[in-house]
Amino acid sequence: MSNTLLKSSALRSALRTTASASTRRAALASTTFVRNKATLPDLPYDYGALEPAISGKIMELHHDKHHRTYVNSYNTAEAKMQELQASGDIAGQIAQQPLINFHGGGHTNHTLFWENLAPKSAGGGEPPSGALGKAIDTSFGSLDALKEKFNAALAGIQGSGWAWLVQDVQTGHIGIKTYANQDAVVGQFRPLLGIDAWEHAYYLQYQNRKAEYFSAVWDVVNWKAAEKRFK
Ligand SMILES: [Fe+2]
Repeated sequence: MSNTLLKSSALRSALRTTASASTRRAALASTTFVRNKATLPDLPYDYGALEPAISGKIMELHHDKHHRTYVNSYNTAEAKMQELQASGDIAGQIAQQPLINFHGGGHTNHTLFWENLAPKSAGGGEPPSGALGKAIDTSFGSLDALKEKFNAALAGIQGSGWAWLVQDVQTGHIGIKTYANQDAVVGQFRPLLGIDAWEHAYYLQYQNRKAEYFSAVWDVVNWKAAEKRFK
């Protein structure tokens, strides 16, 4: 971003002194709408820092391979979408939209997920406090009751998907929702806490015992991140 701004600024400066008005307009038009590509975020902890709940090998593959593929595929799909928009191909844009949803959702979901996790030494597993803690007690009775319902929701996902603690942006109420594939939490609901129920999130370590993963992951949940998202 800063590099782009620098280039644009330098270009404008040069154009002011050397080019005609029409040339300046044409050059600026081609540089004003520079698209920012999605990038893979760094993790704020080491791959092995969430063990034994999540193995370092899973974290490495999940972040550096799976998430990276969503980022790259989203950028490719978005570039294609730009071409279709430029050519006015509306049918093509409609056909392209599912790819944007899938890979953009994959990128968004995983970015939120990494923030939702923390090593025990950095507060992972510490119960939520403040307004979110109160909302959980009001809505679910207790944190343990929330975890029980959340794990039941995770176990009920058929195929690949996510379970989320969400907040209704209109009512402010919190609740648990599941989403298929990489569908993102957008629109009426705000994502507070998401758990990845795709096999790639646990299979290497837990194989078919996914209930053990759903149980163990709470030891490394970063409730502070959820508290920040709660309005
Ligand atoms: Fe994942």
